[in-house]
Amino acid sequence: MKFMFPTVIEVGERFKDCLIDVVQQNDELEIKDAGFETLSTTLSYCLYELALNPEIQEKARQVIQDAFEKHGMFTYEMMLGMPYIDHILQETLRMYPPLSNLNRKTMNDYQVPGSNHVIRKGLMVMIPIFAIQRDSQYYPDPESSIQTVSMRKK
Ligand code: HEM
Repeated sequence: MKFMFPTVIEVGERFKDCLIDVVQQNDELEIKDAGFETLSTTLSYCLYELALNPEIQEKARQVIQDAFEKHGMFTYEMMLGMPYIDHILQETLRMYPPLSNLNRKTMNDYQVPGSNHVIRKGLMVMIPIFAIQRDSQYYPDPESSIQTVSMRKK
């Protein structure tokens, strides 16, 4: 029996239908902004990186095909069983975080561990996600593409 593998567009269409259901059931939440832009940006950059790295693309395709053959359909368990795909998505999110900064307001005075610096209650704090994730102090060779996917330890 020939194994039927859905195209990226078919999978995208199914996922879009799922998201629309969620949005329609949660009218008052900001899920539309939170869920659509972040996800579409991530998937676009992921496909861009895969286009730049055909060997990784081929291996990723094989991993998904094998998982489909094993499970017969998209399931949560199937997703959990593909660490290679997980690495690719994590690396995409590291390189291209859809939200480049997070903003928080301090509720109490906070002493930064290992320093005399105190962040006073009521101050706005910006957490620079993009800068942290491109910092060689934390990620060796941070500007490299997902080629390093197998090098980064989880
Ligand atoms: C790759 C995809 C996504 C990324 C990178 C992402 C990223 C984030 C980040 C960083 C926050 C925290 C913002 C903050 O606290 O300032 C957040 C919050 C949130 N996200 Fe996502 N998100 C993604 C997908 C989704 C999807 C698919 C949905 C819904 C279907 C969603 C719904 C939400 C909601 C409702 C919040 C607010 C949660 C709260 O404040 O308690 N996100 N997201």
